[in-house]
This record gives sequence, structure tokens and C-alpha cells, in this order.
Amino acid sequence: MPADFDTIVNLAKKRGFIFQSSEIYGGLRSAYDYGPLGVELLRNVKDQWWHSMVRMRDDVVGLDSAILQSPEVWVASGHLESFSDPLVECRDCNSRHRLDKLKDPDKCPTCGSSGTFTEPREFNLMFKTHMGPVESDDNVVYLRPETAQGIFINFENVRRTARMKLPFGIAQIGKAFRNEITPGQFIFRTREFEQMEMEYFCHPDDAADKFQEWVGLRHRWYTDLGITPEHLRLREHDVDELAHYAAGTFDVEYLFPWGWDELEGIANRTDFDLRAHIERSGEDLTYFDQEANERFVPYVIEPSAGATRATFAFLLDAYTEEEVKGEKRVVLKLDPRLAPIKVAVLPLSRKPELVETTGRVADALRSRWPIEVDVTQSIGRRYRRQDEIGTPYCVTVDFDSLDDNQVTVRDRDTMAQDRIPIEGVSTYLAERLVT
Ligand code: GAP
Repeated sequence: MPADFDTIVNLAKKRGFIFQSSEIYGGLRSAYDYGPLGVELLRNVKDQWWHSMVRMRDDVVGLDSAILQSPEVWVASGHLESFSDPLVECRDCNSRHRLDKLKDPDKCPTCGSSGTFTEPREFNLMFKTHMGPVESDDNVVYLRPETAQGIFINFENVRRTARMKLPFGIAQIGKAFRNEITPGQFIFRTREFEQMEMEYFCHPDDAADKFQEWVGLRHRWYTDLGITPEHLRLREHDVDELAHYAAGTFDVEYLFPWGWDELEGIANRTDFDLRAHIERSGEDLTYFDQEANERFVPYVIEPSAGATRATFAFLLDAYTEEEVKGEKRVVLKLDPRLAPIKVAVLPLSRKPELVETTGRVADALRSRWPIEVDVTQSIGRRYRRQDEIGTPYCVTVDFDSLDDNQVTVRDRDTMAQDRIPIEGVSTYLAERLVT
């Protein structure tokens, strides 16, 4: 099993990974702030995704589209009409619930009453606001509930300017907003979150193969970055669970503390979105294949992951408790590529000569990696703190360092220590910290 839910939430707060939004005002249940370590971890998750999805491929390019888009986008995409969840309200305690997520559809999980729910009504999940100084029905805009539509509406701009030929993909990372009926489980389901999405455009005849290919690639991305394979599985959607745009979907699921749940969806969106935008906008978003002398609307395979949700899974999976010499050691065994701090530089004591040498060592490393210099407390406590935040290497400057110009490098996972000349530390770490 991955780590216990409360343990991770407490660690995230205690060490400065993740705080509840607006904590000093009692907290906003459905949004979170990423602290000094959390922002690095989240950024590393997004960088790794971008690296594998865009930088390492010739057939995928990037995009950063606006959160606010023409409301026509959401009419065309079907979100205005169909992006909703079934909402029921308990007549006894007035609590609201998402019907399809209730364990027992007759029993209120808040007050325990039976048979007290109102008839379900479809509740649209899009946040609505107004553009400009006047609030009227004419200037309603929506916060995007997925980043994908920004890609579809830029399909032709990107294809033409980047001179892309099918099959090719457009990738985007960014915020999405959903007025979830029941946000919860920490950063698993929030009303403001980040997505990492890629729309892969291909010939309709290639869609089935590309779909299988992306399902495999996306599953492997998580295990390559250290998720325990037994904590990950693929699940195909039943026909009645498919989103309004999907002809087929596989979820990559993670074994969260409450059971298996969605981490990422890989969908075959067919030509649903491009066709819808062609009809609504009147623009030509078809593709002409010169070699085959064929014009058609491309199909789309979409791997769609939650950056914030993935960050939660990486935290849960990395959490490890060990016994060392009769004492509990907590280690966040994050893949070094994800670790917020790569190297901690620690003087054995606060003696000025040691602190000065520590500064020199730190200066030689900080242009390459996020590092932390810690001069407080005993060395044992400082190691424990670095283990708990997942720092792969600690470099310790001791009194011998002043004479022999060497430092001790400690490995987080094995706790093995190597004595290294100061001028060789950067090379030593570079060989071990793969980016
Ligand atoms: N464009 C397709 C799409 O948005 P989705 O399954 O609704 O598909 C994709 O969302 C991913 O976004 C999910 O697998 C999940 O990781 C993340 N996600 C969706 N809703 C979320 C929420 N309320 N809070 C955090 N992450 C969410």
C-alpha cells in the first residue's frame, strides 16, 4: 500500500510542500498553495512531462493558450450542454452530493438519513464570469475546464506555422477550473488544478494503433519516474462512463489510500472537436494529405494528465518508513529528477571557517541544481530533514575538510558516504543526478 493519507497531508504541510489556500481566513476547501518545496516538485513533474512529450519528440510541439476563450468554444465543444455531474441534495441536512460517486445512492453520507435525496439534476461544472466592466448575459465568459480546447482552436495556426505533417501532436500544460460538487481528498480533486494535455492528430485509419501506443507510453512514464508498478493499473471505460466526446478511453489508475482512482485518461476523441469547431466557426480545419491527395478531418488521441494529481501520487509513492539502529527513518524516495532540492550542503558546525568553506562548495553547485544550505541543529537532525523532503545527496563539510579539501557525500537511499575532493563534487553529483 502507498502511504497513509493523513501522514502525507501532514508532511506536506509541515515541510512546506502544500498549504490549504487562504489558511489565515479559515481555508478554502477546494484550492491549494504550493510552498517552497511544493512549487519545485510540481514544476519538476511538469518539466518531466514536457521533456518526454515535447522535447524528446519530433512530432509534438508546445502551446500555451489563454484560460479565457470565446464562449463559442464551449458551445461548440459541448461543454455548455454536457459538462455536468448529477447533483442530489439531502432534504434532512441540506448537504449536496455527486450521485455517481455515492457508495449507497439512497443514503446521505453526511447525516446517514435514507431516502431523503432530491431528484438528481445536472449541474454544469464550468465557472462563469464576465468580461469587461458590465455584468450582463452578453459578456459571459468561462474559466476553461480543460486545456484541450485551446489546442483544438489553434490546430490550424500551429499546423501552418510549425509546418507539421500528420501524425503530430500539440502539448499544453496549464490551469483548469471545475466547480466540482464534491472537491476533496487533499489535492486529488480541487476546483482549481493543473493539467498536462496533448492532442495527437492522425489519420482516422491510424487512430486505433496510436491509441494503443499512447496508452502504453503514458503508463510507462509513471513507472519510469519511480511509481511502484503494482500501484498502477490501466482500466478501460465502460460505454456508459465515456465522456461526451470519447469513442474509447483508458484510465491510468493509481492505488490511492482510498483505493484505485484516476490519475490520467487517454481518450480517442475521434474527429468530434475539430468537426464541432468547423461547424460552429465556419473555418476550414480539415487536413490535406498531398501524397495521398486526400482531404479529411483528423482524429485525435488525447493523453490528459493532472499535474497536481500526479504530484500527489508521486508524494504518496515515495513515502517510506525504515528502521535504522532501532530508530524510525522517514525517507521520501522521490526519483532525483523530481526531488525539489537535489543537494544539501551542511557544515558540521557553525564555526566560521566551516561556514565559509560551505559557502564555497554551495556556490559551485547552485548554478546547476536547486540546493539548500542548512547550518541549524545537529547533523543527525539535518540529515533527517533532508531525508524527509527527498534530497538525494547531502554534502557535509567537517573539520578535516579544512586540511584535506575533501567533503563527505551521503546518499539518501543507501546512506553510504563517500569522501570526495571539493573540486570533484560537482562532477561526482552530475554523474548521479540525471536530468
Ligand atoms: N481533456 C480531457 C479531460 O479533461 P478529464 O478526465 O476530465 O479529461 C483529465 O481530466 C485529468 O485531469 C484527470 O485524469 C485528472 O488527473 C485531472 N483532473 C480532472 N479533474 C480534476 C480536479 N477536479 N482536480 C484535480 N485534477 C483533476
